[in-house]
Amino acid sequence: MGLDGDMVEAACYKGISARIIADYVDLKNSDKTFYIYDLFEHDDTMVHHSLPELGVGLFEQVKARFDDLPNVIVTKGFIPQILDEVAPEKIAFLHIDMNNAEAEIAALEYLWDRIVPGASIVLDDYGWLAYRAQKLAEDPFFAARGYQVLELPTGQGLVIK
Ligand SMILES: C[S@@+](CC[C@H](N)C(=O)[O-])C[C@H]1O[C@@H](n2cnc3c(N)ncnc32)[C@H](O)[C@@H]1O
Repeated sequence: MGLDGDMVEAACYKGISARIIADYVDLKNSDKTFYIYDLFEHDDTMVHHSLPELGVGLFEQVKARFDDLPNVIVTKGFIPQILDEVAPEKIAFLHIDMNNAEAEIAALEYLWDRIVPGASIVLDDYGWLAYRAQKLAEDPFFAARGYQVLELPTGQGLVIK
């Protein structure tokens, strides 16, 4: 919270992890903006798996979850393309949780230069065998930039830039 920059979650689904993070850091009383994204819907053309509550109405429900936090910006769209329209210039915290290796790498490539030194990048599914494709894509992404992902006991991956 002491770093320059805003916060990003790609992606938020029902907004539960974003809400927990926002409450934990007392976002309401901070000068940071938390940008959270999702498709909020799913169809058979999408490579990643569906989740039960994706569908009409979820976008509105997630916005309602953050009604009391004007500094949370909930955006519906496809990552990375939507980042052209809505994204902070500087990022102090990035949570990546798309269960989708291609989109996760696209987000990292798009946002990497905006992540400030000292910022934490949390890769939600990094260590889980079911999402092995993500680790296999993310290890070389970070190695090429001189970083190694720390695998946490939760299965998450952590990089501090
Ligand atoms: C596991 S859920 C996120 C859960 C949330 N972070 C939490 O813990 O409460 C993964 C989400 O990624 C979204 N997603 C996957 N690929 C995406 C993409 N290319 N652009 C935007 N959202 C995407 C899905 O719609 C899904 O809601």
